[in-house]
Amino acid sequence: MMKGAILYYSGTGNTELACQYIVNHTKNVEFEMVNAIKDKAPDLTGYDLVGFAAFADFLVPSVVYQKFIDDLPAQDDKPAFVFNTYGMSSGQTLRILDRKVTDRGFRVVAGHSLHMPESFPPMIARRLGNENAPSDKEFRAFQTFAAEIDHIAFRLSEGTIVPAKSIDLGAMDKVMRYPKSMAKRMMGAKAVDPNLCTGCATCANVCPKGAITVAGQPSFDETECAYCWACYNQCLYGAIYTKKYKDKGRYTGPSARLRAKFI
Ligand SMILES: Cc1cc2nc3c(=O)[nH]c(=O)nc-3n(C[C@H](O)[C@H](O)[C@H](O)COP(=O)(O)O)c2cc1C
Repeated sequence: MMKGAILYYSGTGNTELACQYIVNHTKNVEFEMVNAIKDKAPDLTGYDLVGFAAFADFLVPSVVYQKFIDDLPAQDDKPAFVFNTYGMSSGQTLRILDRKVTDRGFRVVAGHSLHMPESFPPMIARRLGNENAPSDKEFRAFQTFAAEIDHIAFRLSEGTIVPAKSIDLGAMDKVMRYPKSMAKRMMGAKAVDPNLCTGCATCANVCPKGAITVAGQPSFDETECAYCWACYNQCLYGAIYTKKYKDKGRYTGPSARLRAKFI
C-alpha cells in the first residue's frame, strides 16, 4: 500500500472536506491529512505521494501557505499533486502551488481546482455566495480527479515513473491579479461587540498568523493580520465585526447539504 500525505490549509472547511473525500475514495494509497497551519510538517521521507491543497485567497494561495511550502525540506523528485478550492475564480492559485511545490523538488503529477461556496464575506454580503457550488458537472470533474490520484498511486505502486503534468490555466486566470492592499481595504478595521464576546478565544485559535491575543476580550495585531476573515467567519457568537461588515456575509463552514455530497 502506498503511503500519502495531504498537507492542507483550509480557512473554513471547504478544502478540508474535499481533501477528506480524496482520502476516502482512494484505495491504492493510504493518505494522512496534515493541517499545514496547526500541525507540524511531517518528515516526508516515508511518503510516496504528497498532496498540497489550499483555497484561493485574492487569486493566489495565501502567503501563510506559500511560506509553509517554501519552508519544507528540499525533495528529490517526490510525486505530488496540487489542488485548490475557490468561490468565484482561482486566478493564479493552482499555477503558484505548482511552481512552489516544483521549486521544492517535488514532481507535480496532477492538479485540480474545485468550485465551492464562497467564504469571503464581502462577496457573500453581495449575494455572490455560490452556496450551491459545486454543480453536478463540477463535482463529477472533481470525482474524476480523485480517481486520477488513485490511478497514479496504483502506477507508483507498480514502480512506474509517472511524468510531471503541466498545469493549464484559463486565459482569464492568466491576467487577473489583485493588489494585496485591497484585502485590507475591503475588510476595514476589526472590532469586538463586548456584549456578545465570551472571551472563548476561538478567534485566536483559528487565526493562522497568531495575530489575536485574548485577555478578557480579543485584540488584533493589525500589522500581522493576513485579512483572511477566519476570526470573523468562525466567531461562535458573531461578536467580531469590521467597520464595513457587521453581522452579514459570514461563512461558518460547509452546510449539511455540502457535507452529504462529499460522503
Ligand atoms: C480572504 C479570502 C479571499 C478569497 N479570495 C478568493 C479569490 O480570489 N477567488 C475565489 O474564487 N475565491 C476566493 N475566496 C473564496 C474561497 O477560496 C472559497 O470559498 C474556498 O472554498 C474556501 O475554502 P476553505 O473553506 O477551505 O477556507 C476567498 C476567501 C477568503 C476568506
